[in-house]
Amino acid sequence: MSLKLVLGFLCAIGTWASENDTAQQGPPPLLLVSFDGFRADYLKRFPMPNLKLLYSQGVLVEQLTNVFITKTFPNHYSLVTGLYAESHGILASNMYDPISHKHFSVHNDSDPMWWNGAQPLWITALDSGYKTAAMMWPGSDVTIGNRTATHFFHYDPHVTFQERLGNVTNWMLGNKKFAALYWEEPDRTGHTFGPDNITAMGKVLKEVDDNIALLMSELKRTGLWGQINILITSDHGMAQCSADRLIRLDDCLPPDNYTLVDLTPVAALIPKEDAEAVFSQLKKCHPHMKAYLKKTIPDRLHYRNNARVQPIILIADEGWTIVQRGNKLPRLGDHGYDNALPSMHPFLAATGPSFRQGYQLSSLESVDVYPLMCRLLSVPPQPNNGTLTQARCLLAAETCVDVPLVIGLVVGVLLVLTTITGESLNIRRPSGSRPFQRLQVDYDDDDDDPLLE
Ligand SMILES: *[C@@H]1O[C@H](CO)[C@@H](O)[C@H](O)[C@H]1NC(C)=O
Ligand SMILES: *[C@@H]1O[C@H](CO)[C@@H](O)[C@H](O)[C@H]1NC(C)=O
Ligand SMILES: *[C@@H]1O[C@H](CO)[C@@H](O)[C@H](O)[C@H]1NC(C)=O
Ligand SMILES: *[C@@H]1O[C@H](CO)[C@@H](O)[C@H](O)[C@H]1NC(C)=O
Ligand SMILES: *[C@@H]1O[C@H](CO)[C@@H](O)[C@H](O)[C@H]1NC(C)=O
Ligand SMILES: *[C@@H]1O[C@H](CO)[C@@H](O)[C@H](O)[C@H]1NC(C)=O
Ligand SMILES: *[C@@H]1O[C@H](CO)[C@@H](O)[C@H](O)[C@H]1NC(C)=O
Ligand SMILES: [Zn+2]
Repeated sequence: MSLKLVLGFLCAIGTWASENDTAQQGPPPLLLVSFDGFRADYLKRFPMPNLKLLYSQGVLVEQLTNVFITKTFPNHYSLVTGLYAESHGILASNMYDPISHKHFSVHNDSDPMWWNGAQPLWITALDSGYKTAAMMWPGSDVTIGNRTATHFFHYDPHVTFQERLGNVTNWMLGNKKFAALYWEEPDRTGHTFGPDNITAMGKVLKEVDDNIALLMSELKRTGLWGQINILITSDHGMAQCSADRLIRLDDCLPPDNYTLVDLTPVAALIPKEDAEAVFSQLKKCHPHMKAYLKKTIPDRLHYRNNARVQPIILIADEGWTIVQRGNKLPRLGDHGYDNALPSMHPFLAATGPSFRQGYQLSSLESVDVYPLMCRLLSVPPQPNNGTLTQARCLLAAETCVDVPLVIGLVVGVLLVLTTITGESLNIRRPSGSRPFQRLQVDYDDDDDDPLLE
């Protein structure tokens, strides 16, 4: 009898305590997960039953238009800052800073000066009185603006997904409002075997999907499922490369005419002597590579206004690899190409108390993810390049204007009116069955980009 009472009392305390933990003041906690190199169409090409189960109870954005260059570090920093690479300063996997004369690589990335041009969400959220955590997300083990997340781990590729997940779950149980979790696959396998290798990609995506199952069961086991918002996304896609698609710089220009900062698929070069002469050699180097002087880099790439963008950049066409010499293909799969290419796009899935259920959006800009996360956390966003216009449609509590529907209605009414007034010949009806989708930049039209003549 008394034992029952004591047990009942303990139970009550436990329930009360955990309710206080999870229902704490303010919005639900947010967990952001990235599976590196998860190309959007893997979702259509491979089963992924657990991921599908997750977003069937939430939302799916089929394609995220990410930022140029479509590499891991620039895009992971864009996701947590909402800034284009030229504005956050992490422009490539290999950088040279002409002001400090320092070099950056993904293996030597911990000097804060590279990251201080922006403030990631795990730091901004501290100012709202939140505790934050980041598990191996690029930049999260760097002291940025003299601060770090409340909890973080130094990058170690040998730590398994399960271990990372266990730590993140513990942190979230301890009242962390925002946590970011990074995993290296399917990027690693995509590089090694190429995205067209069904066997290799099928195997690794099954592992990724199993990890998502693990995530869901761990959150259910700890009572976090249903209490927190979860975003699952990625930084970029992957294109199939081939030894038949090599571009050799040495065929066009002696290597001592320039300093190479980064090589493929976007090369960054500093000409040694005559910049115009070096450029004119590179411009005609290969039909599948475009060359730009810094000032002529197309606006739409948002990749110019930064001292760390070098005087000449070269952009290989999809699936082409830039090398200096030889016949050796470094990787069967690669990314970094033009961010207008669908093969470079990742996806976004989300679920949790703040999201609509069973809702899909065909595309969103990846810089919009940051203002979305700020809204979810009620954190005032830092200045950024994103907008909530489309992203708010994913949220349960927001009214959103369905732009295609509204345009459709307006055009419909116009058509009816013009038919009635007999002036329909003067109105151009948009062609195609889905005329009102966001315009896609066709990368094949890049020849229109202003090259320096
Ligand atoms: C929840 O716990 C905090 C301490 O962690 C305490 O300050 C607060 O009063 C508690 N809230 C409620 C509703 O009891
Ligand atoms: C890492 O970068 C710093 C700053 O550019 C440089 O001083 C240092 O030598 C680099 N370390 C390695 C191992 O390359
Ligand atoms: C970081 O702290 C140092 C020493 O306290 C200070 O001089 C510096 O301005 C701070 N940097 C930033 C970005 O806040
Ligand atoms: C992280 O996980 C490891 C291995 O599971 C464990 O030893 C460690 O205590 C955890 N650290 C935190 C802060 O949860
Ligand atoms: C595809 O990947 C598998 C490993 O999963 C490998 O054994 C096979 O040779 C690859 N096939 C091709 C055509 O590269
Ligand atoms: C390349 O370097 C050589 C040797 O320094 C020089 O003669 C030549 O003019 C340079 N070419 C260009 C295009 O800069
Ligand atoms: C992106 O946002 C930053 C910060 O507000 C701003 O300085 C920059 O001009 C913006 N870029 C574009 C292309 O609007
Ligand atoms: Zn990669």
